[in-house]
Amino acid sequence: MALPESFIQELKMRNDITEVISSYVNLKRRGRNMVGLCPFHGEKTPSFNVYTENGSFYCFGCGTGGDVITFIMKIENLDYIEAVKFLAQRAGMNMPENSYDNSMADLKSRIYEANRQAARYYFKMLHTSEGIDAMNYLRGRALSEKTIRHFGLGFAPAQRYSLCRHLKSLGFKDSEIVAANLAFKSKNGYGIYDRFSNRVMFPIIDLRGNVIAFGGRIMTDEKPKYLNTSDTPVFKKSANLFSLNNAKNTGSRTLILCEGYMDVIAVNQAGFENAVATLGTALTTEQAMLMKRYADEVVICYDADEAGQKATARAIEILRNAGLLIRVLTVPNGKDPDEFIRNKGDDGPAAFANILEKSGNDVEYRISKLKNSYNINTSDGKIAFLTEAVKVLSSLDNPIEQEVYVSRLAKEAGVSKEAVDLQLKKLKGRKYRENTKKEFRQLQSNLSGRDDKVNPQHYQKPRSTAAEEALIAYLVHNPDKSDKISSLLNENGIQTDFNKKLYDYFQSRIKNSLDPMLNISADFTADEVAKIIQITSSYSKSVSTEQAMMEYINTINYESEKISKDKIGQASERELMEYLKKLKEKHK
Ligand code: GTP
Ligand code: MN
Repeated sequence: MALPESFIQELKMRNDITEVISSYVNLKRRGRNMVGLCPFHGEKTPSFNVYTENGSFYCFGCGTGGDVITFIMKIENLDYIEAVKFLAQRAGMNMPENSYDNSMADLKSRIYEANRQAARYYFKMLHTSEGIDAMNYLRGRALSEKTIRHFGLGFAPAQRYSLCRHLKSLGFKDSEIVAANLAFKSKNGYGIYDRFSNRVMFPIIDLRGNVIAFGGRIMTDEKPKYLNTSDTPVFKKSANLFSLNNAKNTGSRTLILCEGYMDVIAVNQAGFENAVATLGTALTTEQAMLMKRYADEVVICYDADEAGQKATARAIEILRNAGLLIRVLTVPNGKDPDEFIRNKGDDGPAAFANILEKSGNDVEYRISKLKNSYNINTSDGKIAFLTEAVKVLSSLDNPIEQEVYVSRLAKEAGVSKEAVDLQLKKLKGRKYRENTKKEFRQLQSNLSGRDDKVNPQHYQKPRSTAAEEALIAYLVHNPDKSDKISSLLNENGIQTDFNKKLYDYFQSRIKNSLDPMLNISADFTADEVAKIIQITSSYSKSVSTEQAMMEYINTINYESEKISKDKIGQASERELMEYLKKLKEKHK
């Protein structure tokens, strides 16, 4: 069942795309459009465009695009119906009754509810005699009752039917408990059993306050140390951060990024509520973009061991690309933040505040790492150190920042500033040439259609594809030319399947007096929607003349009549005669 289009039309009218996007992205006017920094990929110069007049957006940097519904789906991590509901609520509209498929939304709300009940259950069990070892474990890790309550920590009992039995008594179906990843189906196919048993439980809560997942730690040295909820309809590990629900409320535009649950909790207990952690995986761009919504600066506070330092190097890259300022906090004596704070006892909070205060930015961190790995008392060591350090500086795009570090580096290594500058210029020249080459190759491959995932025939038929796209854009911008186009275009003129589907879709909507673009976010996949916006916005209304339309049609017709060489080889005599006849007619 689909939502009535009149409803979607009103929804879009009452949710002006520029207004909606403005509450997430700082937009500035550029000509007829609005532009800003893309919220879906890291960038320093704006390539995210909002087209107010046709209610769409498109990012030339990452190729994301769509209408206001698509935008909300992406930025709020919602599915189509949820995004429509979100916008309806924003505009004070009621959803039309019985007109859409609610089964996914229903399942999701059952999963949220099951998770919430599970968290309550685990919390309660921690405070029973069964949970005594777990409570002692948490106490042993210096957590106060207040902290335990604040994070809603709990205990999953050892018997592997405890939670299942409890949830079933509350009316949850086996299928719902399994969908929440709180239980597994047993191998013999009969019944279900708890996913978490005999573990200390850490609920993961999203920005709306829903319990979306759990982490569970074993209390011995057994493996695996931590178990996390797998991805479910309400949880995507790579797009969430532990404790962001707390951190977003602190009013500070700085986040402290830790490696694990216990670090976040210890740092919180020491008085820093702006700590978050990834959920047992390496940091993703999605998580960095999420942090960017709440912070300007991230303090990386990973373990001091080698794995932690490697992860730091990767995180620096991802966070920098997201346009975040970075500081790196190195915990002394190879400890993690939790151990560090705990070892200092009552002085923990002050000691942590102290190392936080002293943490340098990412450039200082990378240069001091380099300095430690070369012996700069020998001239060979010094040259190697300087060469590597200048590489770090060449990656900065702020000239003032660069200047500061050039001076500092020269002083530190006891060489002239000019020497460092010269080396930097050489490197930047090479980098510039490499980048230009890369951009050129990228452009070439874009034009050739090699990377076109939505229309895989683009690469084989570049000429047809280009003309087809231009014609489709023309049709959407000039629906009054619909009949004329149908009469002039060869019946099987459109060569690529995706464009054929688009063309038929728009033609049929126009013939039924429907706004061609109104419902694309319901009728196409996210990638297809982005492609449609790319096509329709790259051929703007003002430059598409009727003469241009004729050229597109001629190209399409010509390309469709062309028989390729190998086809001629295989063609029967009759086919060849027909082809010749057509060609002659054409040239009359
Ligand atoms: P504690 O030993 O409890 O202090 O944890 P930690 O945070 O010091 O652990 P560690 O540095 O080993 O791990 C950091 C994070 O990685 C944890 O918080 C988990 O999210 C994740 N992690 C650690 N071990 C495992 C594991 O065995 N499986 C999975 N899936 N994740 C793990
Ligand atoms: Mn630890």
